[in-house]
Amino acid sequence: MAYGDFQNEIYFRGLGGTVPTLPMAYHELEQRARAAMVPSTLSYVAGGAGDERTQRANVSAFDQWGLIPRMFVGAAVRDLSVRLFGMTLPSPLFLAPIGVIGLCAQDGHGDIATARAAARTGVPMVASTLTVDPLELVAPELGSTPGFFQLYTPTEKDLAASLLQRAEQAGFEAIVVTLDTWITGWRPRDLSWSNFPQLRALCLANYFSDPVFRSLLVKSPEDDPQAAVMQWTRIFGNPLQWHDLAWLRSLTRLPLIVKGICHPEDARRAKDGGVDAIYCSNHGGRQANGGLPALDCLAAVVDAADGLPVLFDSGVRTGADVIKALALGATAVGIGRPYAYGLALGGVEGVVHVLRVLLAEVDLIMAVDGYPALGELTRESLKEVKC
Ligand SMILES: Cc1cc2nc3c(=O)[nH]c(=O)nc-3n(C[C@H](O)[C@H](O)[C@H](O)COP(=O)(O)O)c2cc1C
Repeated sequence: MAYGDFQNEIYFRGLGGTVPTLPMAYHELEQRARAAMVPSTLSYVAGGAGDERTQRANVSAFDQWGLIPRMFVGAAVRDLSVRLFGMTLPSPLFLAPIGVIGLCAQDGHGDIATARAAARTGVPMVASTLTVDPLELVAPELGSTPGFFQLYTPTEKDLAASLLQRAEQAGFEAIVVTLDTWITGWRPRDLSWSNFPQLRALCLANYFSDPVFRSLLVKSPEDDPQAAVMQWTRIFGNPLQWHDLAWLRSLTRLPLIVKGICHPEDARRAKDGGVDAIYCSNHGGRQANGGLPALDCLAAVVDAADGLPVLFDSGVRTGADVIKALALGATAVGIGRPYAYGLALGGVEGVVHVLRVLLAEVDLIMAVDGYPALGELTRESLKEVKC
């Protein structure tokens, strides 16, 4: 079935008087999710760094590009599949790592729900280090859909090694190391709520269940959660430098992806350091305000990556956004906040809905505009919009 057939499903159900209960447009999704979420969790998900200018610019950057339609192509069948690390993925989407996704579900088990949505859609999930349920419980829920594990590199090297070994054993198929979050950015919304979930011992299951982390404690996290949290604050963030890349590379045989790369020179050095893919992202504007929209960094990073796959996220809200990121050279496109909102509104069903909406729009744009395969979306397919 083509992804675009989702619209037929909806229109035909409408003949029987059924209209969708989940939102079809992003602005409504966001609006309704806001009403459904606990205020402190909402501020953590919706908020960003500083006055959130970079976060907003991530979204509006997509407006500067338009796809040029091609006619007489007859794109009756579209191929949305991509090759990544020897795998064939059915679509170019993946679920970006979201540390508090566990808390976004009404039952408090959003990591598991996200994995189930990945299993249903074939859209890979990048599971964060910061989860409510330990990675060993998340991985089996992915079914045959690949999962990637995202590492926040701790200062304790043995703990980093242990987390990656566990991820490998659990069946994750690639490792994403996030480079831009060894320290938390200045986030006025969270500061106003005095809310940092991890300090409340939330989303730390991967640490609390880890033998190396537990060996650093006098009492177990079950007996003294506060002391465990304090230990976590001491080991969480490792301000990595280039000389650490060889060590990271040595920790896993899985494909290694570095997240947070926006400068072409960093992409080149990471490639020379043996990574398998570059992940161009500014963390959705959550970490540093005053930066460029991630989309504006993408083409130069793709050029510098010189054939390595480039994953991209930050600001993707619609299928049209996905198309533009692909045309600028992304191999795969990460969905962030939209699926957190889908989860808050509708659990597994909500995440599946968000992904189906995005994929239907991608597919139908390709059909209407005459691009039968993703490979045909190139920079020449885009033109800058004159405002
Ligand atoms: C609430 C929240 C938590 C996040 N947690 C993580 C995380 O644990 N690890 C990580 O690498 N990125 C994390 N990110 C960043 C996302 O992976 C992604 O880069 C970002 O959401 C993209 O921006 P967008 O959601 O505005 O499109 C988080 C983002 C949000 C919104």
